[in-house]
Amino acid sequence: MKTMKKIVVLVSGNGSNLQSIIDASQQNRINGHICAVFSNNANAYGLQRAEQAGIPAHFLNPQAFSDRTAYDCALLTAIDQYQPDLVVLAGYMRILSPDFVQRYCGSMLNIHPSLLPKYPGLHTHRKAIENGDQEHGTSVHFVTEELDGGPVILQAKVPIFEEDQEEDVIRRVQAQEHDIYPLVIGWFLDGRLSMSDNIAILDGKILPQQGYASE
Ligand code: GAR
Repeated sequence: MKTMKKIVVLVSGNGSNLQSIIDASQQNRINGHICAVFSNNANAYGLQRAEQAGIPAHFLNPQAFSDRTAYDCALLTAIDQYQPDLVVLAGYMRILSPDFVQRYCGSMLNIHPSLLPKYPGLHTHRKAIENGDQEHGTSVHFVTEELDGGPVILQAKVPIFEEDQEEDVIRRVQAQEHDIYPLVIGWFLDGRLSMSDNIAILDGKILPQQGYASE
């Protein structure tokens, strides 16, 4: 019998990706359970989602710390107590200090709403529309010290139509995120996915720059 792996999730906002992971866990689609959720935002709806699912939900107030290093040090200590197998960033909108990234390097995933390496940073959907792009998407990647720069594991593409508003593209991208994030988390928890020398490896094969089966 396989042992259940432990996941810690970090959120800053709505937590719809967190919800997709909670659902996947409850429906046994992934071999793991979320043992805690942390947020830098007291009002993050993700914290309520966690509580509703009976998961310990913690708010750590950035204003109570002198700087990023001190905050991340306290966050690390709190997370370490759960001894997670995997740390999942799900709309966590705070830059992580190098020490934090180092601690969970190779066992920390992020989802970013663009077809990386295109559009790291904020307002990706708006930028894609303004640039006249006909497609946009989302990327699941390992977290490294380079912001939104770690190796991509899986991407999903969506079309952009002429009449689209930013909200339309956000909604389309998020629907994809809710499918691909639990999928990739499942791969990791099953021991199929790892990172070595800044390269993502799935089932013993090096993944190309745009992740698995990008076309
Ligand atoms: C998601 O779309 C995620 O890709 C994005 O924040 C949203 C959070 O939504 N993350 C980033 O922009 C990270 N750079 P959620 O709170 O409903 O899961």
